[in-house]
Amino acid sequence: MSDIKNAANNVGKSVVRRRSLFFGAGAAALAAVGYSLYRRIASTSSIQVENFMTSGTGQKKRILIVTGSARVHGNSDLLAEAFAKGAREAGHDVDIFSSGREPMSACLHCEGCWSTGKPCVVEDSFEHFWPLLEKANMIVFCSPLYWYNFSGHIKCAMDRLYPYSKKEKPRDLLIKEAMLLMCGESLFPRSFAGSAESYRQTLGLKGWKDRGRLFVTGVHEFGDMKDHKALAIAEQMGRNA
Ligand SMILES: Cc1cc2nc3c(=O)[nH]c(=O)nc-3n(C[C@H](O)[C@H](O)[C@H](O)COP(=O)(O)O)c2cc1C
Repeated sequence: MSDIKNAANNVGKSVVRRRSLFFGAGAAALAAVGYSLYRRIASTSSIQVENFMTSGTGQKKRILIVTGSARVHGNSDLLAEAFAKGAREAGHDVDIFSSGREPMSACLHCEGCWSTGKPCVVEDSFEHFWPLLEKANMIVFCSPLYWYNFSGHIKCAMDRLYPYSKKEKPRDLLIKEAMLLMCGESLFPRSFAGSAESYRQTLGLKGWKDRGRLFVTGVHEFGDMKDHKALAIAEQMGRNA
């Protein structure tokens, strides 16, 4: 009798287990669909454009775009390419330096600047960077958000502007204007506040005019930026440069 009872109990338990498994799988599937929908909506609707841009003078410029990701054709690369397309169509000369693919050391603060006749004594990718820097009238920083800041790659490139900030220097940069393009996974525009503030203060120090900023929230996976409406904005920023 007790065997029959036990068997009945076991059957009952396995039905409950099957049911909870079924509901568990259903809830997981629902959550996955919900999350992917949420990401889809977030990645196409929450563009944050701060201080879209001021109008250019219409004069032809040489623009240097410094990108900050190692991912070829990743999200920030697509922003940079869209910007470059607009700027070239408007007649500007555009150079792109990819600090993620040509990484360089941070500044060593050795104070050896200009001692060899070149801006820096450290011989790394900066050798490719400084000739482009010295030709440009406008600089555009285009970085993914890493730890609520610029990527390390682009930060090292920024560090290497140090020789041009010394009082004694044989020559200075021609850059007079700057723009900032950034993207990140976060859905909150305030996640970019740290970078925006460093950018603002750097421009203040250098006396560069802020010509515009674009922050794109909600992009993370490779390809999230493809067909994103932010690309049209970046292209327009390039055209108006
Ligand atoms: C090391 C690292 C740190 C990151 N930190 C942040 C972060 O602090 N906030 C954020 O929203 N996204 C963060 N992300 C996500 C990237 O900003 C996001 O994936 C971006 O779209 C990548 O752009 P990319 O394809 O141009 O590299 C981080 C990604 C990496 C690899």
